[in-house]
Amino acid sequence: MEDLSAAAEALRTGNLVAFPTETVYGLGGDATNESALNKIFQAKGRPRNHPLIVHLAAADMLRDWTNNVPTYAAELAIAFWPGPLTIILKAASTVGRLVTGGQDTVGIRVPSHPVALELLSLFAQSGGSGVAAPSANRFGKVSPTSAQAVRQELAQFLSPADLIIDGGDCQVGVESTIVDCTGSTPAIARPGAVTARMIQDVLGSEPSTFSNNMRVSGSLPGHYSPRAKVLLNTIAAPGDGLIAMSDVKTPHGVIRLLKSATSAEYARGLYRALRQADDIGLESVVAILPSGDDIAVAIRDRLSRASSDQTDFLSFSD
Ligand code: TXA
Ligand code: MG
Repeated sequence: MEDLSAAAEALRTGNLVAFPTETVYGLGGDATNESALNKIFQAKGRPRNHPLIVHLAAADMLRDWTNNVPTYAAELAIAFWPGPLTIILKAASTVGRLVTGGQDTVGIRVPSHPVALELLSLFAQSGGSGVAAPSANRFGKVSPTSAQAVRQELAQFLSPADLIIDGGDCQVGVESTIVDCTGSTPAIARPGAVTARMIQDVLGSEPSTFSNNMRVSGSLPGHYSPRAKVLLNTIAAPGDGLIAMSDVKTPHGVIRLLKSATSAEYARGLYRALRQADDIGLESVVAILPSGDDIAVAIRDRLSRASSDQTDFLSFSD
């Protein structure tokens, strides 16, 4: 693995580091450093009242961020960390407003990508705690799943002291499952690779599948959108892009962007395919949604947001 101590040092001195996680690339900054957090919002063009996920090297660092971990939340952390799960907990009073978006909660995750874990451990060893990292894309756009995509999205908005670490393509391909653990039972606020069924297998009861009054920017319609228009479950016309499972044939003149044998493969390739549509200047992309209750749930969630044409809602949302 490349030497990540310079990257940990960059974080310690208040600069930004874009790094790979198993889900998507994150744009990281010291979660206790207001100036670093401001840089994140600026580089992303993201409204300052949208909360950030704090990434930790290990679950025992939770106590820097919260004083209240319900038993079921601890069970989820033990079962799925390191991994693609974010849990929302009541924030300790010391947690800054830029991290919480002014709410009384904080989102925490321990990622499993070896580069992310190494970077977070080096950061912790040098006296740091959490790294706030939203997906490394401009606000409302498709999350990057390769270092090349991060460069394309953000290079022009970063400063020379900021770094982009290349850790190859992300294995999961869609953002982490977010589970609100502030109530008496868990509620899935954003579906991901950790599914409702997997949570039920650990806790013995089914989680509810959304919670309101939380500000989850990725839950706005019009989010995760490429420039191309995304059309769902229709017949692609010549000149359209097509994203579908491999049993779906490509009509004549249609540009096949993704052909996957499994929903895991679909998730892994989805954002690359949407980016490719924009790179080659396609006007429309047809996506045939995968069925099933595995990561297909997250794919359907992201694609229905990408296809929703409510940019007004997005800009007025807050
Ligand atoms: O897989 C992921 O979660 C990636 C990688 C980089 O870890 N990160 C990611 O971050 O997707 P972001 O900021 O693009 O999306 C995180 C979502 C946002 O919609 C944010 O509003 C929500 O998590 N969130 C974070 N903290 C929250 C909180 N305290 N309460 C409610 N929602 C929260
Ligand atoms: Mg995002």
